[in-house]
Amino acid sequence: MSAERLLLICLFLQGGLALSRNFWHITDLHWDPSYDLSNDPKRVCNSSGIRPAVQAGPYGDHACDSPWNLINSSIHAMKDILPNPDFIVWTGDDTPHVPNQLLGEESVLRIIGNLTDIITEVFPGTKVYPALGNHDYHPKSQLPGGPSYMYDQTAEKWKHWLDLESHQTFKNGGYYTEKLLNRAGFRMLVLNTNLYYESNKVTQNDEDPAGQFSWADGVLTQAAARKEKVYIIGHVPPGMFEKKRSKPWYRPQFNMRYLELIQKHHAVIKGQFFGHHHTDAFRMFYDSNDSPISTMFLSPAVTPWETTLPGVKKGANNPGIRIFEYDTQTLLVQDVVTYYLNLTRANAGRDRWEKEYRLTESFQVADASPASMHQVLKGISEDRCRLQQYYQFNSVNFDLSECDKECRADHVCASREVDFHLYERCLAIEAAGAGLSGGLLSILSMAASILFLFARQ
Ligand SMILES: *[C@@H]1O[C@H](CO)[C@@H](O)[C@H](O)[C@H]1NC(C)=O
Ligand SMILES: *[C@@H]1O[C@H](CO)[C@@H](O)[C@H](O)[C@H]1NC(C)=O
Ligand SMILES: *[C@@H]1O[C@H](CO)[C@@H](O)[C@H](O)[C@H]1NC(C)=O
Ligand SMILES: *[C@@H]1O[C@H](CO)[C@@H](O)[C@H](O)[C@H]1NC(C)=O
Ligand SMILES: [Zn+2]
Ligand SMILES: [Zn+2]
Repeated sequence: MSAERLLLICLFLQGGLALSRNFWHITDLHWDPSYDLSNDPKRVCNSSGIRPAVQAGPYGDHACDSPWNLINSSIHAMKDILPNPDFIVWTGDDTPHVPNQLLGEESVLRIIGNLTDIITEVFPGTKVYPALGNHDYHPKSQLPGGPSYMYDQTAEKWKHWLDLESHQTFKNGGYYTEKLLNRAGFRMLVLNTNLYYESNKVTQNDEDPAGQFSWADGVLTQAAARKEKVYIIGHVPPGMFEKKRSKPWYRPQFNMRYLELIQKHHAVIKGQFFGHHHTDAFRMFYDSNDSPISTMFLSPAVTPWETTLPGVKKGANNPGIRIFEYDTQTLLVQDVVTYYLNLTRANAGRDRWEKEYRLTESFQVADASPASMHQVLKGISEDRCRLQQYYQFNSVNFDLSECDKECRADHVCASREVDFHLYERCLAIEAAGAGLSGGLLSILSMAASILFLFARQ
């Protein structure tokens, strides 16, 4: 190859690389400062409640929230894997799952401060967009729709990341917006959706807590006028929990308003990034013609803590962290790469974060646009192998059991329908068997799965 030609190829590659950049998304770190291996299994950590931590090791246990060692390991793994991201999205839940009496305002603030410190120390020059989780308040989940001591104090801890205006806005209701990386034409919208959480008693009678919906509507209307492209981040997502049938997080009126907000402004919204589930999932948004218009990515948690929600089976996960690759000009999400720590293996002495999967490879799509994510969902609902693959990723390789017909309905309907009524209708259609699993088809797909398994041996 001539030198000239080589140079051309290099320039081309550089151009391509310059367009596609990446950011980290981390969520639900839930540090438990009480984690102590020297105690007996029932007293290793306060977040286990009455459950014994039978496999407790230096990196944690599925009955417990994260020991400091796991927090430290996850932030350093980010630094090793991708030391210079464009920015970091951090969607909250910093404190352990313990009764309110074991925390208090100052403990919650100290924990938020400790996590803020380690992220700042490991990524000193990197812009971080933090959002509040329902556990980043005392008492937990009771975030108010107006100024508060906790909002003020948290704003102070995040002062070095927020611009001046965000810092002020945050104090009014825990939300803010600013230009994405200070670039004209690009915007980050950070919501405090804990205001819509059904466990939040203090906002339940407000029509629009903290005026956040009308504020966000204004921000997005102005963004459209200025031809901006917008990312939305937050903690508690709308829609249903895929691991528990008909389990919503938002109160119904708030769920409807969130959906309307996205449907009205989807043209400027280029991605939504949330946490709270601790699972790896996504939510589709459609217009009135059933065309995919937006996707919400739910990233897995760092904490391996098994949920205590009644009725959820195997509700734990391996610790996960995630890179989004995006086009810096269009903000199109091009790919999603998830890394994880096999907790069992880490506790046995091999603390190695490994790549779990790359979305475009594992699901054979061109990118992570709404149209492609719709294809991913179609694959999950029609192809047993895809469903199984998705299901294992959902718990970050913790639950490797088979996702059966009921399980498929739960996951497919939660991904497809954010609207509560349409979700119930989706379940009814699945139960009636019209969801494509006619007898012949399921036999055919089972045969295909078996062939596939043999082909892989
Ligand atoms: C848990 O909380 C109790 C207070 O109820 C405290 O005495 C104890 O030290 C904490 N830590 C552990 C590991 O139990
Ligand atoms: C944090 O992790 C880094 C990298 O693995 C390690 O060098 C350091 O000793 C750890 N610090 C603590 C307090 O565990
Ligand atoms: C957490 O922050 C407090 C100060 O607020 C400090 O005393 C403590 O050492 C920190 N803990 C860790 C693990 O960094
Ligand atoms: C995690 O590690 C354990 C112990 O080495 C192993 O048995 C298990 O298969 C691993 N899980 C995955 C998903 O690789
Ligand atoms: Zn959480
Ligand atoms: Zn949460």
